[in-house]
Amino acid sequence: MDSKHLYIYTIGCQMNTYDSSQIAKFLGSTGYAENNDLDSADMIVVNTCSIRQKAEQKAFSFLGRLSQLKRNKPQLIVAIGGCVAQQEGKKILSRMPFVDLVFGTHAISRLPALVRRIEKNRTRIVDIGQQERISTGDYVHATKKNADAAGVSTFVTIMRGCDNYCTYCVVPFVRGRESSRDPESIVEEIKAGVKKGIREVTLLGQNVNSYGKKEGLCSFSQLLERVNTIAGLKRIRFTTSHPKDLSDELVDAFKNIDKLCNHIHLPVQSGSTQILKRMNRKYSRDDYLEKVAGLRDKCPDIAITSDIIVGFPGETDADFEDTISLIRRVEYDGLFAFMYSDRPNAPAARFDDKIPEAVKSERLQVVLGMQKEVTMKKHLKRVGTVQEVLVEGMSKKNIDANEAASIPAGTQGIQWTGRTADNKIVNFDDCSADGEKFELKNGILAKILIKRAFPHSLWGYPVSIKTLKREGERSYAA
Ligand code: SAH
Ligand code: SF4
Ligand code: F3S
Repeated sequence: MDSKHLYIYTIGCQMNTYDSSQIAKFLGSTGYAENNDLDSADMIVVNTCSIRQKAEQKAFSFLGRLSQLKRNKPQLIVAIGGCVAQQEGKKILSRMPFVDLVFGTHAISRLPALVRRIEKNRTRIVDIGQQERISTGDYVHATKKNADAAGVSTFVTIMRGCDNYCTYCVVPFVRGRESSRDPESIVEEIKAGVKKGIREVTLLGQNVNSYGKKEGLCSFSQLLERVNTIAGLKRIRFTTSHPKDLSDELVDAFKNIDKLCNHIHLPVQSGSTQILKRMNRKYSRDDYLEKVAGLRDKCPDIAITSDIIVGFPGETDADFEDTISLIRRVEYDGLFAFMYSDRPNAPAARFDDKIPEAVKSERLQVVLGMQKEVTMKKHLKRVGTVQEVLVEGMSKKNIDANEAASIPAGTQGIQWTGRTADNKIVNFDDCSADGEKFELKNGILAKILIKRAFPHSLWGYPVSIKTLKREGERSYAA
């Protein structure tokens, strides 16, 4: 029998990307094959995010477009999953009569049974049940039957939920209690991925530092050591590390675990101790700066990125100045900045002293403007250096028109893309500066001589001995 078509639309964080791959694998077992053609879909899954109001709106506006599709094709199954589904539950059924299934963040492994019920009885179902602990059946790894397109890099969720209750955040409510997967299943899943061509894994958790603590499993650093022994795997990344729990053991891991990339995402949220307190982050500005200093002391070339929330309730000009001065001091390699957004259940929604949208927007622009300069300065420093890049594929689409215009004429080679260990995007030619052609392929580590710096990426040539020698004689210092 031909397989039925499954279309998945994913909004949100890396965990949702991972969940979508799990959704595809679980539904693969009931005869659904994922493809990216909305019109031919027999089932559409919208995997939603609730972190800010905008993300939630994005889900509802996409869902709105599906009502016409469903009218033309009544047997189509429309399912909504993820964090908005968990939060809104059966309210979605009454609001959107064309939705057949609302499934929460702990219901993914139950999808095959749920979908079979819908196919048989055409009933509408809501399953937002949550479990305290992860069980082995909650995740599946790649098999021949559910094979997906082999990429070079993949995410693997190592724990779900969060117990930190930062006052602005919806995650503890929509993802449930913190619970860790056992290390064996994580290692097995990565090994299965490596067999299919995966060379880089990003281990995911809301607070990886507390991995395994509740269940008495190994520590996060010990998990990293185990993953490090997987033959064929070249790089390990992880996210997110909560600053309050960043341990010396984990800082040492950057020195001792050879496949661990020298990049840490260490979200600060605010540079003001007073605001951090109201956010329930459990560290002060000084604690944070100390952690950064400790990391740079042990691992001087580590790249540090962060998240910032501007306009948290009660954020004064002086508090915002503290954030600005912290950003100036740390000089992040990259920054995600957001305007504070009220979320259902999150205590900050009930706080006084809300900041006007116009002020939030102004503060956001200041932060983004500052970061743009720092990123460019850091990128320019790379020009003239040779970087090791994990080749991820062909790149044309990653280069925008402005960037393409400034790439030297005469480079007729195919453009490739990849990232450095410290997570900088590098686009590159398949010929060296001398016209020597390279046999590039996905998953190899290539040495690239950086020739151009852009706001979001670097550009260069693969290095031949000849090029290195000649280019090395020139100075590219920023
Ligand atoms: N567990 C991670 C964060 C996951 S959410 C951590 O603790 O760092 C990703 C980011 O979204 C957060 O770091 C925060 O900067 C932002 N965010 C979360 N809730 C938000 C809200 N209500 N308004 C604006 N930004 C928010
Ligand atoms: Fe949200 Fe805080 Fe948990 Fe991160 S640590 S997911 S910001 S509650
Ligand atoms: Fe969004 Fe849920 Fe992730 S709220 S950021 S998809 S955990």
